[in-house]
Amino acid sequence: MVVVLCLLIFGVGSKVFYQTSPGQRWHPRRSPANVEFKGDQVCVECHKKQVVTQSQSAMGMAMEPVANSKVLAANPVMTFSSGPYTYEIKRKDKQSTYTVTDGKETISLPILYAFGQGKAGQTYVLQYEGAYYESLVSFYNELRGLDFTIGAPRTVPESLKKALGRRLSENETGNCFACHSTGGVTGGKINLGTMTPGVRCEACHGPGGAHVMAIKTGESGRNLIFNPSRLGGDELTQEFCASCHRGSDEFSLLRSMEINNVRFQPYRIFHSKCYSDDRRIACTACHDPHEPLRQNAAHYDSKCLTCHVSKGQAAAQGLAVGCRVGTKDCTSCHMPKIEVPAAHFKFTDHYIRVVKSNEKFPN
Ligand code: HEC
Ligand code: HEC
Ligand code: HEC
Ligand code: HEC
Ligand code: HEC
Ligand code: HEC
Ligand code: HEC
Repeated sequence: MVVVLCLLIFGVGSKVFYQTSPGQRWHPRRSPANVEFKGDQVCVECHKKQVVTQSQSAMGMAMEPVANSKVLAANPVMTFSSGPYTYEIKRKDKQSTYTVTDGKETISLPILYAFGQGKAGQTYVLQYEGAYYESLVSFYNELRGLDFTIGAPRTVPESLKKALGRRLSENETGNCFACHSTGGVTGGKINLGTMTPGVRCEACHGPGGAHVMAIKTGESGRNLIFNPSRLGGDELTQEFCASCHRGSDEFSLLRSMEINNVRFQPYRIFHSKCYSDDRRIACTACHDPHEPLRQNAAHYDSKCLTCHVSKGQAAAQGLAVGCRVGTKDCTSCHMPKIEVPAAHFKFTDHYIRVVKSNEKFPN
């Protein structure tokens, strides 16, 4: 009897690995060691639509391999100077070289990884004296050229080595890879062998081998791969998407970042009176993670109107009341675009609200 019970538990146990109870969930940034990623080329056989559109999305391209970098190919020579230092990023064949010189000495390194598909900007990761460095200067789309990397000191660097960029600890480098790639960090360690640049299928759904195997042998593939559609709205927003986009778990830290926290959508939306555990206000209510971002305000109206119906209806259904000012393009007034100075980019404030004229940025 005991044996049968154990078998049952273990049998069921392996099947429910990807169900949604907290201990068994796939966590996008915490891949265990020794997992085998299959890659999108396996998923495409049965989920072609998702693979085609997701690979073209900003998340799918969150890290560009240098050889196919659109940004680096389109800007074959970029220069910048700060005090005595001159920077140059130069393309030759499929390689790009990052050079900094003070006129006497020069450090010149191949760019290893380009982070970000470049809608706001792109930052470079280099290797120098056995450590990873974040480039001191980054590409900005608005400038079509270089400026200081966000967070980098804007004072003239005190040495050539400091002018190169910021030395990253192993932990920090791991964090960059965990948020911008698939399988780049396993068991807490950087693992370039299993890495695919960009946030792809298995970054969010976990390794797909068992799922594919089951379907190919005529069984059900359900529960053998993590499906976030079974999460509650708040778990999806403040845990799953927030594992990279950052949210309420880091409330005080993010609050202290003042205007820079407008980048952290789960944190921002948490402030809003609209926000609750309701799936109609979860990240996925407005964004399909398998598609590029929709940039027309009209696309979002129907999302607001699932809750903000007309006054009479609202009262009857106990729902939020509609607007006295606008009937369309709701996000254009209630989700303002906020310029983050050092980012040369206007982020969409996910703190949905009535925006007061001349208001101070609400932290
Ligand atoms: C041979 C076909 C096939 C391949 C290959 C395949 N899938 Fe699936 N997938 C399915 C089918 C069919 C379903 C519907 C569930 C079922 O009936 O088993 C499904 C369901 C899913 C689900 C929902 C699971 C659930 O529990 O609700 C996810 C997520 C998923 N697939 C992701 C992937 C990813 C990621 C890959 C690549 C690693 C992949 N699939 C490869 C056929 C496939
Ligand atoms: C593994 C980390 C990770 C997870 C998990 C993640 N994202 Fe992202 N997401 C990113 C990164 C990195 C970018 C920036 C890509 C770029 O611009 O290079 C991004 C960008 C985006 C964008 C902007 C697209 C654009 O065109 O500007 C949207 C929308 C988005 N994510 C939605 C979501 C949603 C919704 C979820 C949860 C279902 C989610 N993300 C989960 C890492 C992640
Ligand atoms: C906690 C997860 C996380 C970590 C760690 C992280 N990023 Fe990101 N990164 C994101 C998300 C999410 C976005 C999209 C939202 C935004 O622009 O802030 C993003 C955006 C970017 C962008 C702008 C992309 C674009 O298309 O405009 C660059 C460049 C970038 N990250 C570089 C880096 C570098 C370099 C590191 C390591 C030093 C790093 N990131 C670490 C999650 C992360
Ligand atoms: C940024 C995270 C993210 C990435 C990357 C991602 N997905 Fe998903 N996927 C989700 C979320 C979240 C859901 C649940 C959506 C919902 O609840 O509306 C989902 C749902 C699914 C489903 C199940 C749909 C259903 O009806 O239950 C399939 C199948 C799937 N994804 C396949 C893929 C494939 C294939 C890829 C790679 C091309 C991929 N996903 C990449 C986050 C992601
Ligand atoms: C899940 C349902 C839901 C969705 C979706 C939703 N809201 Fe709300 N919203 C609410 C609730 C509930 C309130 C609070 C009503 C109250 O306190 O009377 C609210 C309040 C508001 C307020 C007043 C906020 C304040 O600070 O006084 C505005 C403005 C608003 N919503 C706009 C929007 C817009 C624009 C969208 C779409 C981008 C949207 N909402 C989507 C439920 C929702
Ligand atoms: C009520 C609708 C709504 C919800 C819910 C929502 N977003 Fe957005 N999001 C938008 C709109 C509107 C834009 C701006 C689109 C445009 O015009 O470029 C946007 C843009 C973005 C961008 C691109 C960067 C920027 O600042 O423009 C990212 C990243 C993003 N959303 C992530 C998320 C994440 C993560 C969640 C969950 C916390 C989320 N969004 C929830 C409506 C929404
Ligand atoms: C042209 C800008 C604009 C547009 C577009 C707009 N609103 Fe508003 N909205 C406002 C302003 C301003 C207020 C505050 C009005 C007041 O207090 O009299 C407001 C108030 C609200 C309120 C709070 C109502 C209350 O009394 O608490 C809600 C909810 C709301 N809007 C939802 C929406 C929705 C949903 C849409 C899209 C269908 C939308 N708004 C389109 C500017 C706009």
